[in-house]
Amino acid sequence: MSFNLLKGKRGIIFGALNDASIAWKVAERAVEEGAQIVLTNTAVACRMGTIDELAKKTNATVIPADATSVEDLTNLFEKAQEAMGGKIDFVLHSCAMSVNMRKKRTYDDLDYSFLNKTLDISAISFHKMLQVAKKLDALSEGASVLALTYVASHRTFFGYNDMADAKSLLESIARSFGYIYGREKHVRINTISQSPTFTTAGSGIKGFDGLYDFSDRMSPLGNASADECADYCVVMFSDLTRKVTMQTLFHDGGFSSMGMSLRGMTQYNKSFIDDNRDENGKIIYG
Ligand SMILES: NC(=O)c1ccc[n+]([C@@H]2O[C@H](COP(=O)([O-])OP(=O)(O)OC[C@H]3O[C@@H](n4cnc5c(N)ncnc54)[C@H](O)[C@@H]3O)[C@@H](O)[C@H]2O)c1
Repeated sequence: MSFNLLKGKRGIIFGALNDASIAWKVAERAVEEGAQIVLTNTAVACRMGTIDELAKKTNATVIPADATSVEDLTNLFEKAQEAMGGKIDFVLHSCAMSVNMRKKRTYDDLDYSFLNKTLDISAISFHKMLQVAKKLDALSEGASVLALTYVASHRTFFGYNDMADAKSLLESIARSFGYIYGREKHVRINTISQSPTFTTAGSGIKGFDGLYDFSDRMSPLGNASADECADYCVVMFSDLTRKVTMQTLFHDGGFSSMGMSLRGMTQYNKSFIDDNRDENGKIIYG
């Protein structure tokens, strides 16, 4: 259902690789709500992925850019304004990558050049795109900028590795830039902390299936899907949230406020069945 929440707005969406990508769903929802969009990803991802299919569906222009390259980002923000005929009203940063994770380097054995890459792609690129946009004065008054993050920035999660550090930095950039851009142009900058979601990046996390299930059992509302994340992004891009900025917004079915749930405890107790306990966790004396 469309509420025309983004009617007349122009947006740039980073990171739609395939139809499982969160950015893909956001692009579809934004257009459904009346927005005009430009899609961007690395040149390789544009060639290898299925972004052209999404572009066709959403009537979008594709402008390749490596989010770590100031030159590419400058070209992107200039060309996007030309393509859409005006300043940009919303931006989604949906890019992340850890070479340490890909190469199975554990957190106590990081390769530091890989770590620099993780931080550059997954966090510093957010600063770069904001700085480029500000220097070009490419964002409209009151524009809304979002980046996607994960709760491992606040609390430690097995297997999330150096991406936890990247997400902490990403959220910090949202606060620091949010102050400056808010003060000067009422631009809102927030991060959305999303539930585990089956995507290419998500599935790269060690033990992802278990993490997904654990998180679902712990959340009173269950894990939030990519489609639901897209709904939330649309609201944050709309004029209904003009005074929300510099926040990490949890979109996780309540997970981040939980300690232990009944569903989680029940499953945990099952692991003791063979260990002289019944499925309710009661010790079986015998
Ligand atoms: N999937 C999850 O469980 C989950 C949970 C919380 C947050 N997130 C975050 O959501 C965002 C989107 O990830 P996703 O899960 O949709 O996976 P995805 O793999 O579909 O998207 C990641 C994107 O990052 C892009 N990217 C990588 N390097 C880049 C670069 N140098 N320049 C520009 N783009 C680059 C990739 O091409 C890809 O499109 C990421 O920031 C991720 O950390 C994901």
